[in-house]
Amino acid sequence: MTAPDRPEHPGVTITVKTWGPYLVQGPVTLMDTEGHILTPPPAKTAGLVKLCSCGHSRTRPFCDGSHKTCTPPVPPESIAPPG
Ligand code: FES
Repeated sequence: MTAPDRPEHPGVTITVKTWGPYLVQGPVTLMDTEGHILTPPPAKTAGLVKLCSCGHSRTRPFCDGSHKTCTPPVPPESIAPPG
């Protein structure tokens, strides 16, 4: 599968990595269920937020790299678009 071009308009892009985090790029505010703003850990790429999709991170909702050592919870086909 090839990656489509990014949208021409600015905004938020969420990239679903197979067996990895959701990569969030763009102007977002993350809050917990009580409305407290969550500050992402520093990233190598400015403005990039990695959200855990595997449930094994010790810093949820952020990815801490633990997905690299755990069994994937879902097969990659399950996140592919239908069709
Ligand atoms: S996706 Fe990276 S720790 Fe869960």
